[in-house]
Amino acid sequence: MLERQSPVKKEVGDVLLELRDLKKYFPIEKGFLRTVTGHVKAVDGVSFTIHEGETFGLVGESGSGKTTLGRCIVRAISPTSGEIYFRLPDGEEVDIATLPKRELRQVRKHFHMIFQDPYSSLDPRMSVLDIIAEPIRNNKLLSANRDIQDRVRELMSVVGLDIQHLNRYPHAFSGGQRQRIGIARSLAPNPRLIVCDEAVSALDVSIQAQILNLLEDLQAEFNLTFLFIAHDLSVVEHISDRVGVMYVGKLVELADTDSLFADPKHPYTEALLSAVPTTDPEIKMDRIILPGEVANPADPPSGCYFHPRCRYAQDICKTETPKWSEVKPDHFAACHFANELELRGVEDAP
Ligand SMILES: Nc1ncnc2c1ncn2[C@@H]1O[C@H](COP(=O)(O)OP(=O)(O)O)[C@@H](O)[C@H]1O
Ligand code: SF4
Ligand SMILES: [Mg+2]
Repeated sequence: MLERQSPVKKEVGDVLLELRDLKKYFPIEKGFLRTVTGHVKAVDGVSFTIHEGETFGLVGESGSGKTTLGRCIVRAISPTSGEIYFRLPDGEEVDIATLPKRELRQVRKHFHMIFQDPYSSLDPRMSVLDIIAEPIRNNKLLSANRDIQDRVRELMSVVGLDIQHLNRYPHAFSGGQRQRIGIARSLAPNPRLIVCDEAVSALDVSIQAQILNLLEDLQAEFNLTFLFIAHDLSVVEHISDRVGVMYVGKLVELADTDSLFADPKHPYTEALLSAVPTTDPEIKMDRIILPGEVANPADPPSGCYFHPRCRYAQDICKTETPKWSEVKPDHFAACHFANELELRGVEDAP
């Protein structure tokens, strides 16, 4: 178990990334003629900002739309609608959502996404040198082979890899080391924003802690901004300044990490928090078992999407969509009863 500690309050800068009403709908096609019979609303109107140097944690059960959101931000896929403002180093703002291919190529080096399974995202036929050098070559950042090798060595030592292993292949490394290779590769073009999608979820807890520490060190050293995606709240707590909770394509809560953990305002967050292991063995948490599955984003329930699973649901929840509102300063939630409910946070939260 990761030791729970309150995230260090850091100085954060100006807004680096701003999502406005972002949507990604996947068409559902049927039959030979591929008639569109509906849409999977994987991301359905998400808005938030991330400041320079900040770590924004994004959580929610599998299927809530986190990966789709991350892929839209790095424009691995094009969003259906909405805006993704990103500030370039020279201060210019671009909308990644609609940027034409040519200009996209110019700005791609500023953001990068790392994935859960470093093995499947690292080409097994490429040496570590070539894997880390690829973004340098693709972005034409250096041309002389010697300069590229020097830069790769530098990156390897930055992430704690042995530079002697330059010519080895991914299979020769452990899961944690492979994730380090993925991180070195992502750092190669000096990005400003890194989207970490379940980057430590597949690793043993002790290795998880090492990678999280590494990411924090790199953030301080290179002034990186992270969107840190995980289904596990305990991982996010350790590293995030603020946390957003997603359910069926929408944000349901957003707050400072401390505030969200100690005083959740949405019943879904309360249930997720009840599964977070406590560091104090004396404290026994009553885990809230959510009935049923995450709602189907192609056919979500009426009213509050969470109502079929919510222990506090009233009649209004079945018919009316709850409004997104600021329940207390900088703490937002979308629940009809956010002001009234006495929800349980993590007992030993700061
Ligand atoms: N390429 C795709 N085509 C159709 N549906 C998709 C595609 N990618 C994701 N989805 C659907 O979008 C929803 C959200 O998925 P995802 O973003 O992977 O969620 P998470 O990362 O939170 O588990 C799921 O219902 C998933 O099946
Ligand atoms: S609006 Fe109703 S169903 Fe939705 S989370 Fe709040 S109490 Fe539960
Ligand atoms: Mg995912």
